[in-house]
This record gives sequence, C-alpha cells and structure tokens, in this order.
Amino acid sequence: MSKTKQIAVWDPLVRLFHWTLVLAFSIAYLTEDDFLNLHVLAGYYIAGLLMVRIVWGLIGTKYARFSDFVYAPKIVKQYLKDMLKLKASSYVGHNPAGGAMVVAMLITLSLTVVSGLVTYGAEEQAGPLLAWVRHWNGDLWEELHEFFANLSLSLVVIHIIAVVMSSLLHRENLIRAMWTGYKERQEDES
Ligand code: HEM
Ligand code: HEM
Repeated sequence: MSKTKQIAVWDPLVRLFHWTLVLAFSIAYLTEDDFLNLHVLAGYYIAGLLMVRIVWGLIGTKYARFSDFVYAPKIVKQYLKDMLKLKASSYVGHNPAGGAMVVAMLITLSLTVVSGLVTYGAEEQAGPLLAWVRHWNGDLWEELHEFFANLSLSLVVIHIIAVVMSSLLHRENLIRAMWTGYKERQEDES
C-alpha cells in the first residue's frame, strides 16, 4: 500500500485572504445601497485584501506566488481541453486554468473596488477620491460599478463550479485544503 504525506500548500495569509474575502464580498454584494456604510466598509476591506494579496503574489510563499500559477495561454487552453476529456493532470498549487481564474478575479475585483470608490466620490460626495472625482458622472460610474460587481460574481460562480469539478475529477477535497492549508499526496508524487 502506498503511503500518503501531507504537503503545506496554502499559507495562513492566503487562507485568511480567501475566507474573509468570501465574507466581505457577500456582505458588499448583498448590502448594495441599502446599508451604504456597511457596503463601503466591506469594500475598503476588500481593497486592503487585494493590495496585500498582490504584494504577497510577488514575495509570498511558494504556491502563493504569481510565478507559481501564471501559465502561458497555450498551456491554459490545453489544460481546459484535458479537463473536458476528464484527463487533466493534478497540480499541488493552482492548476493552469485555476491560476488564470485567480488573476481574472483579482482584476475584476480591483475594477469593482476602484469604480465603487469613484461612485462614492461622484455620487455621494465622500471617500478618498472625492477631490479628484467630485464633478464626474455619478450615474455612469454607478452603472460601471454594477457591471464590474456582476462580472466578478459571474467569475466567482464559475470558480466555485470549477473547484467542485476539479475536486471530483482528482478525488481530493480542494475546499478542505483551502481551509486547513494541507493537501495529501502519495509519497512518490511531487
Ligand atoms: C468588491 C466589492 C464591491 C462589490 C461587490 C460592490 C457591489 C455593488 C453593487 C451590486 C451595487 C449596486 C449597483 C446598482 O444597483 O446600481 C453597488 C453600489 C454602490 N457601491 Fe459598491 N461594491 C463593492 C465595493 C465598493 C466600494 C469599495 C465602494 C466605495 C468606497 C462602493 C460604493 C458604492 C456606492 C456609492 C454605490 C451606489 C449606492 C447608491 O447610491 O445607490 N462599493 N455596489
Ligand atoms: C464558498 C464558496 C467558495 C469556495 C468553496 C471556494 C474555494 C476555493 C478553493 C478550493 C480555492 C483553491 C483552488 C485551488 O486549489 O487551486 C480557491 C481559491 C481562490 N478563490 Fe475561492 N472559493 C469560494 C468563493 C470565492 C469568492 C466569493 C471569491 C472572490 C470574491 C473567491 C476568490 C478566490 C481567489 C482569489 C482564490 C485564489 C487564492 C489565492 O491564491 O490567494 N473564492 N477558492
């Protein structure tokens, strides 16, 4: 019988980033304009998380770095084809498609936060960008903000479906790994 070993994959910062992002994104999405103070607070928290995560992507632990999970588009396409044929290989960190999704989510979330900050300045005459954006078109920026928020939500839905599919395909619980930080591997696997 082959032995299994535990590999530390997601460091505490990545896990804290992930699960508090899930919470703050849900709060921001659900509060919209009904509880604007709470909405803005959740939005600021997400802005802080994104900045920390981007820096961590450059200087963080092995599997947290962009260099570990940003692959050439050709490799991502091949991975997706293999996944459709149910024969995609397993990765310790993010797989190529997962890595591309992480980058896409970081970009759409950043655009949501920035457009939210502009809306807050232009429409509510508040927030850190007020001095620059007070005369900008608040309605237009609110539309843009809504668009980016919905785009982020669409990616999140695909993200969750992909995580579940990948977990079933490779018979490993990726959700538990994002919670505990550890993945199980056979002794002879890398
Ligand atoms: C990822 C984080 C965020 C998400 C998911 C999000 C989502 C949304 C959504 C869905 C709406 C409703 C849009 C509409 O129906 O027209 C909205 C409105 C708004 N958001 Fe955000 N938002 C986020 C971050 C922020 C941030 C950082 C700020 C500013 C600091 C902000 C300020 C606003 C403002 C001022 C409105 C318009 C409220 C109104 O006057 O009706 N949002 N947001
Ligand atoms: C409850 C629903 C969710 C589940 C079960 C889930 C699960 C996961 C898992 C298992 C991973 C690691 C993927 C891998 O092994 O390669 C991951 C990564 C990630 N997820 Fe989620 N996720 C959820 C919701 C969200 C939401 C709402 C967002 C964004 C608003 C999000 C953004 C991310 C990001 C940015 C990463 C990359 C983490 C990093 O490298 O720092 N997830 N998620």
